[in-house]
Amino acid sequence: MKIIDGKEISNQIKLEIKKEVDQIILKGQRPPHLAAVIVGEDGASLTYVGSKVRSCRQVGFESTLVKLQSSISEEKLIEKINLLNSDKEIDGFIVQLPLPKHINEENILMAIDPNKDVDGFHPTNFGKMALNMETFIPATPFGIMELLKRYNIETSGKHTVVIGRSHIVGRPISILMNSKGKAGDSTVTVVHSRTVNLESYTKNADIIVSALGIPEFVKSDMVKSGVVIIDVGITRVKDDNSIKGYVIKGDVDFESMKSKASFITPVPGGVGPMTIAMLLKNTLLSRKISI
Ligand code: GUN
Repeated sequence: MKIIDGKEISNQIKLEIKKEVDQIILKGQRPPHLAAVIVGEDGASLTYVGSKVRSCRQVGFESTLVKLQSSISEEKLIEKINLLNSDKEIDGFIVQLPLPKHINEENILMAIDPNKDVDGFHPTNFGKMALNMETFIPATPFGIMELLKRYNIETSGKHTVVIGRSHIVGRPISILMNSKGKAGDSTVTVVHSRTVNLESYTKNADIIVSALGIPEFVKSDMVKSGVVIIDVGITRVKDDNSIKGYVIKGDVDFESMKSKASFITPVPGGVGPMTIAMLLKNTLLSRKISI
């Protein structure tokens, strides 16, 4: 079994991005600038956004963190978004999800200028992605595609089972892997919470992408030998023995899967670091379009 090292690949990608940033600066132009909006004090979200901002520094990007109180109204949040939309110094921005319950997520995503939507969540960009047009691809599925490509994992004609149908991961990865091209051309089945006899699908999968958020849900007796496992789950599980008070668990029972899978992404260090690298790649793309 081979471990897919997302940390290593993400570092390679960051180096590639840094080289391009150096070239932009050498030409006397400003570096790419990413802004991240975070609403409230959710621990996991703060950690992710902190990592995104730190990674900007590593590759020579400018970054801006916009921290807002969880009590902010939807109107005020949209005002902030409009400021970012019209700020010529900002190439792209994200609004970290989930948002507090009183804010309608759809209204927020619709307010973001599609040309600055480096998360690729706006319907215009999502539609372009589904039509195989050039656009910002949501960072986590984009990262999964990149891992499959860089590890030369054959997807053409293979049966991929995606567990979960979220707008952020399950739905877009099912479209991308089913589309024509490298890391695509797969026959994709999407299973979800209402699927009857889920195991009958996973047992027939050549590739499994699990984006469910239930720790260690996928066990080795649910898969066939030689399966490729992409584990997108990152759940904090309470653990009094760890300094932080929690441990991070993936959707897959990693230990038992070792003897069954041909490739597997670990958690942490698999898909997670790729999400950040691909967000940077989208921001660089946005900067290059405007030069
Ligand atoms: N929450 C979990 N993943 C993501 C992501 O990729 N982008 C944003 N904006 N929020 C998230």
